[in-house]
Amino acid sequence: MNRLGIIGAMEEEVEKLKELMDVKEVVKKASMEFYRGTLKGREAVVVRSGIGKVNAAVCTQILVDLFDVDAVINTGIAGSLQNRINIGDIVISSDALQHDVDATGFGYPLGEIPRMETLDFKADPVLVEAAKAACEEANPDISTFVGRIVSGDQFVSDKAVKEKLVENFQGYCTEMEGAAIAQAAYLNNVPFVIIRAISDKADDSATMDYPAFEKQAIIHSVRLVENLVSRL
Ligand code: ADE
Repeated sequence: MNRLGIIGAMEEEVEKLKELMDVKEVVKKASMEFYRGTLKGREAVVVRSGIGKVNAAVCTQILVDLFDVDAVINTGIAGSLQNRINIGDIVISSDALQHDVDATGFGYPLGEIPRMETLDFKADPVLVEAAKAACEEANPDISTFVGRIVSGDQFVSDKAVKEKLVENFQGYCTEMEGAAIAQAAYLNNVPFVIIRAISDKADDSATMDYPAFEKQAIIHSVRLVENLVSRL
């Protein structure tokens, strides 16, 4: 992989990576700042997309069109959808889908975008394996899971909503950008992986847990990405 695109939704998720970079230029486009340079000796573009699926998709398309990236890594935090996945743990995407897509009225399965002929977008197996190995080395005391990430324009902080996501999609964690990045990467035939550290349990305590654990979760995901980049 020649040039990596690395997206975090929030400044907190990318600021450390930007600090570690040898920055060659900063390009502004669509209200986003794209930091192009090298990270751990690899060509990379690091960017804060902003929160939500539209920002994430626009950001991914710019990385492909303007910066010619040949892989996209999404780093950040997420709410756990499974009891065994705890705050601080890491989820690496096997695949991603948008839980707020609903064309069931036309007979499509919940989450499937009409006429795209796929429910989920599959992460690149090479990136997934590398991310797993990176996590085991960078965060040896933390449990890593590979599974489905479900995204929507919704902060999930209600037990009933969480239970529906589990029942409908068997997701491992939920967040607000990953599947949009996955879809944009799929449309451009660019490999992707989503790496998320758990900040909360996407239930009634999520709005309390999130601010308390956000920082620590970000440290885990950034450590992983640093290690991953030097493997690719
Ligand atoms: N990001 C972190 N926690 C989340 C949650 N519970 N719902 C959506 N996005 C999140």
